[in-house]
Amino acid sequence: MTSASPEGAIGVFDSGIGGLTVVRELMNLLPDEDIIYLGDTARVPYGIRSKETVRRYAVENTSFLLKQEIKMIVVACNTVSAVGIDAVKEVAPVSVVGVLEPGARAAVKATVNKRVGVIGTEATISSSAYQRAIKAIDSTVDVRTKACPLFVPLVEEGWLDGKVVEAIAGRYLEELRESGIDTLVLGCTHYPLLKGTISKVMGDGVRLIDSAVETAKVVKEQLEMEGKLRKHGNLSGRRIYFVTDSPDRFKRIGTWFLGQEIEEIEKVEIGDYRG
Ligand code: DGL
Repeated sequence: MTSASPEGAIGVFDSGIGGLTVVRELMNLLPDEDIIYLGDTARVPYGIRSKETVRRYAVENTSFLLKQEIKMIVVACNTVSAVGIDAVKEVAPVSVVGVLEPGARAAVKATVNKRVGVIGTEATISSSAYQRAIKAIDSTVDVRTKACPLFVPLVEEGWLDGKVVEAIAGRYLEELRESGIDTLVLGCTHYPLLKGTISKVMGDGVRLIDSAVETAKVVKEQLEMEGKLRKHGNLSGRRIYFVTDSPDRFKRIGTWFLGQEIEEIEKVEIGDYRG
């Protein structure tokens, strides 16, 4: 049940909690909009799974959102944006915005020495999707990448800074730092929470690109272009959260990601969990 009017909600999905960094930016930029979020917490993490599995999960999540009254789908997961956004677009009769293109575009705009680094999950990095997206915009940009799989569990434990986190970040980011990049794309939903540590390790000369912030800007532009932007001005957008596993953990940890309490939250069954 999709909506062609500004009154429809923005449908957002992610593998779990991480996409709340995107919701946070959407709420900042578009406070009038209703948001319906699906976090596939029963099957997280996606970042270590095969492309086929991630695509199947992505289509199931999309089908769930399409049963709500939505006017757009935001794929708030870098892994899905890297390996499965075409599968989402194939089944969705509304426009689909991922987090990868906005981040890639912002990186090309920001780099001065044309050396860009990208960090993300194993699935995102091994797909080379960021390289392709950046090269498609400017083929002269040199792209260096690094998977940082320990960052997701660290963030979910609330370990965002301190000696241990800095040591892990230092080890992952050493090569990128030495490669002379001037711009680094945080190509995973969880990484904006590590901005302080990553920035400390990379130094002042490296600009960090937060895909969540960039994606919110693109969502606004797209809604405006389609004549679907809400203009109430009463800042009263409603937010409803669905999860596929117990809401408790999502509620507790999600608060750090969202920067505020999560109120309306419901557990739902989607897809086929046998596979
Ligand atoms: N949401 C994922 C991403 O942005 C990170 C968590 C996961 O691996 O599912 O890539």
